[in-house]
Amino acid sequence: MLLRPAQPADALAIARVHVRAWQHGYAGLLPASYLNQLRPQDRAEKYDLSHTDPSRPHTIVATDGNLGDQILGFATTAPSHESDLPHHGELTALYVDPDSWGRGIGVALVSAARTHLVSLGLKHAYLFTLVDNLRAQRFYKSDQWTPDGLQRTDTVWGTAVHVLRFQRNL
Ligand SMILES: CC(C)(COP(=O)(O)OP(=O)(O)OC[C@H]1O[C@@H](n2cnc3c(N)ncnc32)[C@H](O)[C@@H]1OP(=O)(O)O)[C@@H](O)C(=O)NCCC(=O)NCCS
Repeated sequence: MLLRPAQPADALAIARVHVRAWQHGYAGLLPASYLNQLRPQDRAEKYDLSHTDPSRPHTIVATDGNLGDQILGFATTAPSHESDLPHHGELTALYVDPDSWGRGIGVALVSAARTHLVSLGLKHAYLFTLVDNLRAQRFYKSDQWTPDGLQRTDTVWGTAVHVLRFQRNL
């Protein structure tokens, strides 16, 4: 496995991982009718991959390291959008293709995402998970993220989701 910054040409491959991870990871948590109609191309065109501006999102991809450079997962970080945590960074996305879960790719990506936030001078970070996403919550707790008590309903990719916020010192 290799980690590298995402490039604009990666958008569709990232979106395929993104949709497959939602469909497998969120089965039973979000309506099947919603998950089944997700299309990678709809997400691919909304990613922001063609810049080095630290005030915009930054995506790191994990690839299989072979000639085909297959994308197995990705992590995205961004400056804070939370009015009560203005000096934090955000881990806005962490997704691994379901065929590759449990091989250490998530651990490698979350570590690289934290390192990127530190390189921007940030000392604290937050993320959101679905309230019922116990697999992700176990994963984040073992990476020393802690729920801070905030829960709310947000709209993400066109659907309402009940989310829980976690924080971690970097
Ligand atoms: C949550 C998610 C990103 C984790 O990714 P992953 O690649 O499966 O995670 P890892 O393999 O790095 O770690 C998972 C477990 O394998 C263990 N592991 C770590 N390195 C390993 C290795 N080399 N080989 C085998 N297992 C390993 C980890 O310790 C961890 O154990 P734990 O669950 O008991 O803590 C992934 O399951 C996913 O995409 N889920 C769906 C989407 C989602 O919920 N994303 C989070 C949104 S908030």
